[in-house]
Amino acid sequence: MLIGIGLGPGNPDLLTLAAVKALKESRKVYVPGKMAAELVAPYAKADVLDFPMIQDEAELSKLWETNAGIVAREAEKGTVSFAVIGDPNFFSTFSHLRRTIKEKYPHIGITTIPGVSAITAQASRTNISIEGSFIVSDGSPADTKIILKTKNPQKAKEELTKEGFNDFIYAERLFMGNENVTCNIPEKGDYFSMLVARRYKPGILPKGKLYIVGIGPGAVEQLTGKAKNALAESEYIIGNGTYLDQIAEITKNSKIIRSGMGGEIERARKAVELGRDHVVSIISGGDANVYGMAGLVLEVAEKEREIDIEVIPGVTALSAAASLLGAPLVNDFSVISLSDLLTGIETIKHRLNKAAEADFAIAIYNPKSRNRRHNFEGAIEIIRKYRNDNTPVGIVKDATREGETVIATTLGRVMEYNDIIDMSTIVLIGNSESRLWDNRIITPRGYQRKYAY
Ligand SMILES: C[S@@+](CC[C@H](N)C(=O)[O-])C[C@H]1O[C@@H](n2cnc3c(N)ncnc32)[C@H](O)[C@@H]1O
Repeated sequence: MLIGIGLGPGNPDLLTLAAVKALKESRKVYVPGKMAAELVAPYAKADVLDFPMIQDEAELSKLWETNAGIVAREAEKGTVSFAVIGDPNFFSTFSHLRRTIKEKYPHIGITTIPGVSAITAQASRTNISIEGSFIVSDGSPADTKIILKTKNPQKAKEELTKEGFNDFIYAERLFMGNENVTCNIPEKGDYFSMLVARRYKPGILPKGKLYIVGIGPGAVEQLTGKAKNALAESEYIIGNGTYLDQIAEITKNSKIIRSGMGGEIERARKAVELGRDHVVSIISGGDANVYGMAGLVLEVAEKEREIDIEVIPGVTALSAAASLLGAPLVNDFSVISLSDLLTGIETIKHRLNKAAEADFAIAIYNPKSRNRRHNFEGAIEIIRKYRNDNTPVGIVKDATREGETVIATTLGRVMEYNDIIDMSTIVLIGNSESRLWDNRIITPRGYQRKYAY
């Protein structure tokens, strides 16, 4: 991870607390010159990168590549900072570094911490309060316009489109904890809001594509043709270990970005960042729309402009389980996840009660978590309040994978299999219309099958 830190206009007292914290926590701090090194000195020892004032384009770009290489090697090992005078996003060396790193080392995450810019600092020193629009220019055409306090952002967008602006982002309550940054421009705006409009020049429009791919429950032959094509086309494939192993034989030519369980947000951010300029697949077990990565990635992507995203559906665990059990879902059913990360325990209990009372067949995803926190036993207790002990229950673990286990049992006996049920298991509970789920289905690949009756 690389952080661009703004050190403010030059006075040590104008460093922000966020800048100081990041400087202290970085494993390495780089600066473009002596003045920045002095501001950083109380908090970290900085390495000065050489940026001489030369005009020769070719020589300059070689220098940028060398410096980006030095920073990237360290950023691959942990968080590093590049600290600049003023703000890193305004007329700053950091923009060059960011561009080069994005191009040459696209797997490195980049963020910035704003600093007091010379543009705001001057108003304090010149005693000029700006009360209307103003222009900051380095002589180049003004291709960015920022409209403050946008009461009608949609209307403002329409007007600006007539002036040739073609890229819009709406931002409200920035850094306030409940900030909202989106390219879906709303009708009505907040008091603390702004509309940022840009004129994108031909050639710098994004050329990437992001696929959110459901890879099916396990076996590689469960992939759809569309999923297979997307993976084959992808320069980068992002996923967690188990799922990447599942499809290893068809991803040999892509660069793989792995992350452990629980790194979902990081993964989603990385996918969106890379997906602007590269063809990228982020994978999800089963179907990406069913307790999968699609929700998170689309939420993160909402803040990005012009990103081309396609969600490719996959075979969800429930379809695989119903097939293996020979239990087609011909009547209405309800699907519940026991993961309380998004919904909370009380909501899960409430929904389980409602589903069981309404005589829906019930599919339970995530019956257990890695740390066995999910209350599977509690869920069964709730359902038993409404259904008799002979209600058919199917347990399907590692469907279509090595170790596949399919158990047909009853509500009265399901807890006998509690030790078998884990985070790769789906449990189907019948309703009053369900026939007993028996052994009519032949296990496709000779995996172990267990029958409870
Ligand atoms: C985070 S959810 C992901 C669901 C996935 N997106 C899908 O559509 O199947 C994880 C849960 O899916 C179920 N699951 C996924 N793959 C499975 C498999 N091969 N066999 C049994 N259950 C599976 C389990 O209930 C597991 O706890």
